[in-house]
Amino acid sequence: MKPRSATCRSPLKIYPPRIARPQRAGRRALLELHMSWCPVAHIDSVMEGEATCVVAEGEPLALYRIGEAVYATHDICTHAHAHLSEGFVNGDCVECPLHEGVFHIPTGRPISGPVRVPLRVYPVKVEGDQVFVQLSGEDAEHG
Ligand code: FES
Repeated sequence: MKPRSATCRSPLKIYPPRIARPQRAGRRALLELHMSWCPVAHIDSVMEGEATCVVAEGEPLALYRIGEAVYATHDICTHAHAHLSEGFVNGDCVECPLHEGVFHIPTGRPISGPVRVPLRVYPVKVEGDQVFVQLSGEDAEHG
């Protein structure tokens, strides 16, 4: 009869719960790294009634100022390849310059026109004079 090995192959015995916790924390830290805040603009460059185009980590974004709040959406319309930063801002909506599709800026929801797919929106924070956008690190899903 072959002698049993002293090495246990059970992951629970190799990695007890006390060791598993830091691994979970490391995964969370990695996720937060991917979700980091990216400085994109000076607050004075984001004017009410118009959209400001910025590029953050290769993503074209449109920034909007509505009252005291600042919003960020993807700059490319979900209908075709038009820059919403060249569109027309009316209240809390932006109209695409190409086919006049209208999106609700805070939610990215399509309002009217040929647009049916929501616009991607990004969390925004303002610290001092700097506008930060949180990018997810995922590929943009628009269109
Ligand atoms: S490209 Fe924006 S509505 Fe057609």
